[in-house]
Amino acid sequence: MADFSPEFSKNSMNMKKSVIRELLKLTQQPEIISFAGGLPAPETFPVEDLRLAADAVFKKHAAMALQYGTTEGDKSLKTALIKYEEGNGVKIGENNLLITSASQQALDMIPKIFLDPGDYVLAGRPTYIGAIQAIQSYQGKVIGIPFSMDNDGFDMVELEKRYRRAVADGAKIKYIYVIPDFQNPSGICWSLEKRKALLEFAYEKKLFIVEDAPYREIRFMGEPVPSIYQLDQQGANAGNVINLKTFSKILAPGTRIGWIMAREDIIQKFVVAKQAMDLCTSPFTQLWLAEYLSSGKLNSVIKHTCDIYRAKRNHMVEMLEKYMPKRFDLRWTKPEGGLFLWISLPHYIDTDKMIFKAVEKKVAYVVGSAFYFDEPEHNAMRINFSYSSLEQIEEGVKRLAEVIKEEIQTHESGPRGQTTAEV
Ligand SMILES: Cc1ncc(COP(=O)(O)O)c(C=O)c1O
Repeated sequence: MADFSPEFSKNSMNMKKSVIRELLKLTQQPEIISFAGGLPAPETFPVEDLRLAADAVFKKHAAMALQYGTTEGDKSLKTALIKYEEGNGVKIGENNLLITSASQQALDMIPKIFLDPGDYVLAGRPTYIGAIQAIQSYQGKVIGIPFSMDNDGFDMVELEKRYRRAVADGAKIKYIYVIPDFQNPSGICWSLEKRKALLEFAYEKKLFIVEDAPYREIRFMGEPVPSIYQLDQQGANAGNVINLKTFSKILAPGTRIGWIMAREDIIQKFVVAKQAMDLCTSPFTQLWLAEYLSSGKLNSVIKHTCDIYRAKRNHMVEMLEKYMPKRFDLRWTKPEGGLFLWISLPHYIDTDKMIFKAVEKKVAYVVGSAFYFDEPEHNAMRINFSYSSLEQIEEGVKRLAEVIKEEIQTHESGPRGQTTAEV
């Protein structure tokens, strides 16, 4: 063992372990019903078609697949993605597109190219913590913007207020990070009005919007709403939206392929940032997905996935209605897409503490506080409905409801209970 301790960089001191990834280890005992992960349902993976596509790559392009590729990404995959996005109503050229090693790489590259230490990002609270981890690892800071758990979007009055206050205090704000489609963790989808309002805000303040959209195509009910990227294209076309997409939720996360859509000068900056990260995304995987896309089957896989998730989401909502105590201060979101719903509990319940009781009862969730970067709320949780079977969803919700009922009873039979329980 070396007799000196490592002197890590300031950046590395800002890197925080993901609570979710740590929790996942705890919940991986086989008898636990885990609503904690964010895993797609394995039954949605088109295994045989993906195998055939991999075989075809080895037959047709083995040398290319096993060689280094360009940082910008494989041409055949880019062509296939341009066609795919056109089908979604998004028109882009090759120079507006960069293939990434899934969205998480994009989330790491964005603060890398935009933030100097101490610069700020505006983001929802709660939000996807993987984005915040990346911002903090470049010594960036985050200003939280509240939003309601209805399908709406940021509280625009608070956004303006917090923006003005921060600027008056000398903050340099660089971009706004949002997940308008079936947000992780809440499952909510932004209304058209709020998307337009955010875009106007960004134009006025000359800010970029990072629109993280891994769940966009996983809409299983309700009416589609244009992405903020599309709204910019259809309107001023100012190019200040950076749109992040990935195959993780529409095909399989093991592919580790995503794409960024943005204006050309931004893409060029990403290319330089990416060169130092991984030279290029795996050429084999890119050719594999290009081959798979040429089968024209992706849209039917997405439709099938949506059918499965709709059934699971409906079942989870039904089971929550059946087993949870009926109270005004115990509510959950009813997402029209994505993988998650968010439960808000009576204010005195601390889900960080309750998780240990839940694991004892063999059910797991992600503590709500994990999705806050400042002043966390402790009386909430995120639960996933995509991974468990219908039977597991019923049994898991039943167990969760028992744990919550016990917490409520303990509190309300306590000395302060009568005065605080129903305020
Ligand atoms: C909002 C959000 N963005 C990005 C990611 C990362 O996805 P990827 O697998 O493409 O890296 C996730 C993963 O769950 C996510 O929820």
